[in-house]
Amino acid sequence: MKNDIKSPILQNLISYPWYNEGQYQERVKELQSLGVEEIILNGPTTIFNLNVLGKGHSGIVVKVNTNKGKNLALKIRRLDSRRKNLNNEAKFMVIANSLNIGPKLIDSKKNCILMEFIEGQKISTWLEYHAYMKTPGNKETTKKALNNLMEQCYLLDRLYLDHGELTRIDNHVIVSDNRVSILDFESSSVNRKTANVTSIIQSLFFSGIISKRVKDIMDFSNSSSNLLRILRKYKNEQNKVNFERIVSSIWDHGS
Ligand SMILES: Nc1ncnc2c1ncn2[C@@H]1O[C@H](COP(=O)(O)OP(=O)(O)OP(=O)(O)O)[C@@H](O)[C@H]1O
Ligand SMILES: [Mg+2]
Repeated sequence: MKNDIKSPILQNLISYPWYNEGQYQERVKELQSLGVEEIILNGPTTIFNLNVLGKGHSGIVVKVNTNKGKNLALKIRRLDSRRKNLNNEAKFMVIANSLNIGPKLIDSKKNCILMEFIEGQKISTWLEYHAYMKTPGNKETTKKALNNLMEQCYLLDRLYLDHGELTRIDNHVIVSDNRVSILDFESSSVNRKTANVTSIIQSLFFSGIISKRVKDIMDFSNSSSNLLRILRKYKNEQNKVNFERIVSSIWDHGS
């Protein structure tokens, strides 16, 4: 369902979680200056019975059409977000985009980020599907996606951009059969030690629901003394050789 941005049914999304006339008008002006013409109520999450792409602590994400293109994604800052604006998030997206990581930033304002719409599923859903689809090639597809995700984390480490929330992997990684995307650079920093590779490895292979799902599909090793030694080494020396040693050690006993 497409709606003009001024449609009354969108008021409670544009000014969320409560309606404030001033905040609503400010956001509508921003949408107009971004060229957003329609909000498309589509997606896996519902708010007040309206479908959206996602809802988090800092924003609502909806699909939009603009005068520049169709099917983009728009993050609208929640009124109760702990961030005063989305400027830092947009700045960190530009850094990640320099290595083709994350949704492409199109434009941003104080309360809105216009970006590429990422097709795909939450990593838990994607893995669940592959866990039950016991066809040949299934393991290879999973391994390729996980290696690609680890590689992107390695590139972020090399950029000195710490994502900051990769231990909450299921909210921050979208997977399709030909692309893995890391989302939400809201909590990123260029001022702390990067822990992208170590965080993603923790989430994929050591703890939580995602590592259980990976285990349903693949054999991997997370207990060899070799892996623990290399992980420690990588923490101190984040280079390609150490990164590749981690990856091959994980799949060492794998299939
Ligand atoms: N570019 C995009 N394309 C498709 N879906 C997206 C896009 N950006 C975000 N989403 C969806 O919206 C959800 C919320 O986005 P995001 O994580 O940026 O919001 P947030 O308020 O910062 O959330 P959190 O509180 O989890 O940090 C994501 O988990 C994802 O499902
Ligand atoms: Mg966030």
